[in-house]
Formats: sequence, C-alpha cells, structure tokens
Amino acid sequence: MSTTDRPPVCDYEGSDYQQRFWEQGGRAYEDGAEAVALRRLLPREGGKLLLEIGAGAGRNTPRYHGYRRVVLLDYSRTQLRQAQQRLGRSDRYVYVAADAYHMPFADGLFDGATMIRVLHHMAEPLKVLQETRRVLLPGAIFILEFANKRNLKAILRWLLRRQDWNPFTPEPVEFAALNFDFHPRQVLAWLNEAGFAVEDIRTVSHFRMGLLKRAIPAKVLVAMDALAQPTGKWWQLTPSVFVRSRVRGAAVASAGEVVFRCPACGHSPLEPADDHLACPACGARWAVRDGIYDFKEPL
Ligand SMILES: C[S@@+](CC[C@H](N)C(=O)[O-])C[C@H]1O[C@@H](n2cnc3c(N)ncnc32)[C@H](O)[C@@H]1O
Repeated sequence: MSTTDRPPVCDYEGSDYQQRFWEQGGRAYEDGAEAVALRRLLPREGGKLLLEIGAGAGRNTPRYHGYRRVVLLDYSRTQLRQAQQRLGRSDRYVYVAADAYHMPFADGLFDGATMIRVLHHMAEPLKVLQETRRVLLPGAIFILEFANKRNLKAILRWLLRRQDWNPFTPEPVEFAALNFDFHPRQVLAWLNEAGFAVEDIRTVSHFRMGLLKRAIPAKVLVAMDALAQPTGKWWQLTPSVFVRSRVRGAAVASAGEVVFRCPACGHSPLEPADDHLACPACGARWAVRDGIYDFKEPL
C-alpha cells in the first residue's frame, strides 16, 4: 500500500447498494447480527454528538438513538439522499458529503463515532483512523467494523490450496479493486497507533454460509450469533469483526454543536451564507443543497 494525501475513494455515487445488497440480497441474518453487536457495544449512557463515517443509506443510523444528534458522513451524495428519505430532515440528523480522509470538522468535536462496513474500502486505513481520532474528543467511543482476512472459510480454502493468499500474514488482501480484508492484529495495531485504547471485540456473522442461511430462520441464527459474539475477545475467525475503542485521555464533554472546518485550508469555523458555507481564510465556498452539506469540491 502506498501513502498519498489523496487516497483513492470507492465511489458509491448512483449505486443501488442498499436495495441490491440488503433489501433484496437475503441478508436479514447479517443485519440482525450487526444490530446485536451495536446494541452491546454502544455506551448505555448514550452521548451528545455521534459521527457515522460512511453512513451510506442510513441502515444503521436508527440504532444510534442514545445520541442526541447524529452526523452522517458519506462520499456519495446519492447514498445520503437515500438516508435523508429514510430518516427525514430534522435537527437530529446532519448530512455531510465528504471524504473520510479529510473530514470537514473542527478538532475534538464528537463524543462518539462509528465506521461500519467502510474500512474495507480504505487503501490507507491508518490515515482514516488518524483522521477519525482528530475529530473525536478524549474519552470518546469509536466502534469500528472491519472485514477479517483470517476467517474460517479463508483458512480452509488456503489449507485446501484453493486460495493463494495466506490468511495468517498481517498484510491486507485486496480481493477486488478497493475492497480489502484485514488481519485483526494489524487493525488493533493501527487503532493503537492512532490513539485509541481497545475495550471490547465482538466477532459477527459466525454462520454466514448459504446452506445454514437457507435451512435456519434468520432470527434463530441471530440469536446463536449473539451467544457467540463475546468470544471475539479471545479469538477472531469470523468474516466481520466489531471493535469498541476509546480515545485515550481524560473524557471531555461534547458541546453537541457541529463546527465545520474548511477541507481546503483547515480553517474553522466557516461562515454560513444563504446556500453555502464560506471559508474566511481561503475564500472556498461549500454548497448546502436540500439539507446536505457538500464538501466534495468547492463551488
Ligand atoms: C458498504 S457501504 C456501507 C454503508 C453503511 N455503513 C452500512 O453498513 O450500511 C460503504 C459506504 O462507505 C462510503 N465510503 C467509501 N469510501 C469513503 C470515503 N473515503 N469517504 C466517505 N465515505 C466513503 C461509501 O460511499 C458507502 O456508502
């Protein structure tokens, strides 16, 4: 993997991902298992301002009801439109089109963040974790899901010589363009390097096999998965892993307000105008269209 300031982005503009993959894709089990993991990992006491990185069409957003406000960040405007249709326009949700490697927020803003099914699109995982750390407060919770290269199916395929890459080595495997599976040890090392202390690990989707999914009702598989998930603390052999970590340092309370920062020059705050935000330092203007703050390129 190379290191650049502008790593490539897996573009979901115009994608029917939510419909094809979730609604018509027979993934009630995976969705239910993720709901359980989030319920167990989210802080009981809730919080003020949660950042959902790569929120997509907002599939998980209603699960963050313990937070007073949720900022949905995604690179794809059309995914955000779908999220807006699902969740509505209100003070509770803030929709932001931007690149997760260069988030348009002031430092130390959020008391929580999630990144579910997004890290696997990152060619520079450490970079995006460091950027996440920048916008979080000390003590903030971060729930990260990643695709695990050391999963049982990959291990069996490798042992049977039906797969050439080794599931036990630390380097990521790019199984399709901008789709990576990671080794758990490597992800934990990146989290540590970015300034997070790992608190809990849950393995998710233990039973992701066509045969089982056809034979056993999704509800039963979800209940079985819920029982197996805590073993993630000791070993991780599932295709999906959820990690709860916390930004190191004494907790600082969030003011609950979103303060934007110019992604072009780093100045904050930005000045609101009729249909855009203006940067008083570099003059860049960022559109606000139908309730979506658009930081993909300046006007
Ligand atoms: C597989 S979807 C997951 C969506 C949602 N988190 C879920 O679990 O349903 C990945 C999402 O990450 C977004 N994404 C990928 N790279 C991104 C980047 N560099 N910055 C912001 N969003 C990105 C995509 O636009 C897409 O909506």
